[in-house]
Amino acid sequence: MDDLREKYLNAIAGAGDEASLEELRVAAVGKKGEVALQMRELGKMSPEERQVMGPKLNALKDEINAALAAKKSALEDAALDERLKAEWLDVTLPPRPSQQGTIHPVSQVTEEVTAILADMGFSVAEGPQIETDWYNFDALNIPGHHPARTEMDTFYMHRLEGDNRPPHVLRTHTSPVQIRSMQKQGAPIRVIAPGRVYRADYDQTHTPMFHQVEGLAIDKDISMANLKWVLEEFFSAFFGTKVKTRFRASHFPFTEPSAEVDIQCSWEGGTVKVGEGDGWLEVLGSGMVHPKVLEAGGIDPDEWQGFAFGMGIDRMAMLKYGIPDLRAFFDSDLRWLRHYGFAALDVPTLHGGLNR
Ligand code: PHE
Repeated sequence: MDDLREKYLNAIAGAGDEASLEELRVAAVGKKGEVALQMRELGKMSPEERQVMGPKLNALKDEINAALAAKKSALEDAALDERLKAEWLDVTLPPRPSQQGTIHPVSQVTEEVTAILADMGFSVAEGPQIETDWYNFDALNIPGHHPARTEMDTFYMHRLEGDNRPPHVLRTHTSPVQIRSMQKQGAPIRVIAPGRVYRADYDQTHTPMFHQVEGLAIDKDISMANLKWVLEEFFSAFFGTKVKTRFRASHFPFTEPSAEVDIQCSWEGGTVKVGEGDGWLEVLGSGMVHPKVLEAGGIDPDEWQGFAFGMGIDRMAMLKYGIPDLRAFFDSDLRWLRHYGFAALDVPTLHGGLNR
């Protein structure tokens, strides 16, 4: 019995996997295993002998079974350890870098402009980029023969023969949104209209598509003084520093009187700095809304008056963020976008800051 015990306990200790363990179990304590054979011998023994050998054989059987169970769970533990080692994952490692998109300077500046003017009570209005020539010109007091219609290098929509719809153009400015807003809301009104505009022009400072923001404020007693205050407040908030403005008499068919507005700047070493120095930079057109324009918008010019302005957004982005070439804005060059773009989740707000 000692030989048997030693033989099987050793074999079990040396077993390398569960299959050989099972073989050992059958050979030792299976129905026809060696321990069972020994038990059969008990019948041939004297009662005294049997009383000694019986319990011993049972104990041996228990011992082998216990050794088998212990070895089995040891093998399982070892297998699990192996797996844990192989499948181990360091969750403290930094993640792989992933490419992130950026916000285009035009979108950024549109958000900034909107945040500032919304705080002054202007809401955002929109109009179509494909506009009738009535909204783009006639309603704005630009008659058919007016040079502005050709001066503006208008893109006309091609019309098929028999098309009786009014002629359409790609809007040359955001001013038609003045008319649409007046028709929709009536007076009083305070809106801005940022968006794309189109003119057939292409050089270092002109692209055939660019962006403007229109401003319109109409009430009983709005004057040029209100316009000047709004613009000075706006520029100072936008550039993050006090900016002086200069109003120059000008002419637009849709405003009377009209003024072009310059902002204070310095020119040093080829770079423009806004809000310092004694140079001036033209940034927008403005004036008191012409009575005929109020009428076209369905507003009584004897009762209401107000100002309007139109400003180039791309120009503002170039000035604020030191971007030299306008054409690069619309080249979709990833290197340019990554360099001049803004963090996607960093939305400009008055309380969070407007200056990146
Ligand atoms: N629409 C004019 C332009 O594109 C700008 C402007 C807007 C001027 C409103 C006066 C009033 O040049």
